[in-house]
Amino acid sequence: MSKKYNIAVVPGDGTGPEVIAEGIKVLETVADKCSFGLNFIYYNLGGEHYKATGEILPDKTLEALAASDAIYLGAIGHPDVKPGILEKGILLALRFHFDQYVNLRPVRLYEGVDTPLKDKGPEHIDFVVVRENTEGLYAGAGGCLKRGTPDEVAIQESINTRKGVERCIRYAFDYCRKRSKRKKLTLCGKTNVLTFAFDLWERAFREVAKEYPDIQADYAHVDAICMWMVKNPEWFDVIVTDNMFGDIITDLAAMIQGGMGIAAGANINPHGVSMFEPIGGSAPKYTGMGIINPIAAISAAQLMLETLGEDRAASLIEKGVMKVLREDIKDVAAGKMGFSTKEVGDLIAEYIRKN
Ligand code: IPM
Ligand code: MN
Repeated sequence: MSKKYNIAVVPGDGTGPEVIAEGIKVLETVADKCSFGLNFIYYNLGGEHYKATGEILPDKTLEALAASDAIYLGAIGHPDVKPGILEKGILLALRFHFDQYVNLRPVRLYEGVDTPLKDKGPEHIDFVVVRENTEGLYAGAGGCLKRGTPDEVAIQESINTRKGVERCIRYAFDYCRKRSKRKKLTLCGKTNVLTFAFDLWERAFREVAKEYPDIQADYAHVDAICMWMVKNPEWFDVIVTDNMFGDIITDLAAMIQGGMGIAAGANINPHGVSMFEPIGGSAPKYTGMGIINPIAAISAAQLMLETLGEDRAASLIEKGVMKVLREDIKDVAAGKMGFSTKEVGDLIAEYIRKN
């Protein structure tokens, strides 16, 4: 065994445990094949645990997670728990605590997958969104006055620090260079209205761009990006944006690549503990049925291995995913795959074993 990694696993809520089980199956297969070790340590966090114990994210869990090489997360969100409690208390708390300042979300149409964009194929839909992941409207700055009265006031402010913005932009330029595709980085902003926040973003972007003469530095407003993502997705290579816009445009992007069932993301701290997750939620209505697509979770495992530097293993997972999408499953949507959750995991593991 060359290397051994400690992976903290948080299966979470709803369909999270089902898709994570398939991801673990694929990870074990690929680790075996590529001769490295994986030690999985499970953490029980999420809605059920909160309901049973009142605990959200105990300090001792945070300490244990800090000692891991990466965190592999299923989904957080429970229909019986008021929206915001688990999302802010666990998911956002982990992103912030570990300073995972980049949320990396690749968008790629694989062969065999239908996109609602008629006439667009795998050659047109292949870009990556770098979403700032610790600031902006998500910072929790603001408050309310006279709540519940006719005079109530609510303020929620977007926090943009030069340091936070610049490190994310720099990551995006580096990533674009390393990816070496169209060598174009688009800043997604709203400089025509949000003249304070995106003034800072644009100045930081233009200054950092000078260090990357090989990368075309491009700018577009967020609303226009939504339009072009549908009309001309081939214009994009890497997009960098703030937390809120990144959240919104990556749901749109997940749809044009085929759906939430195959959309994966990475919460990255390049110098610390990163966390990998399917982008979709806990899908309560599909929980326990064995019909949810595990590919998003399996592709999140691929992103995890890429980040750990296990490139051969990551590429084997991607090839397995591509083969299964091209040749086996009928549709990426839950219940329409023609296979169960477990069977899709088996098919990808089998491909890895044989290749
Ligand atoms: C995402 C999700 C989260 C977000 C929610 C669950 C807090 O939508 O990962 O995109 O808004 O970041
Ligand atoms: Mn989202």
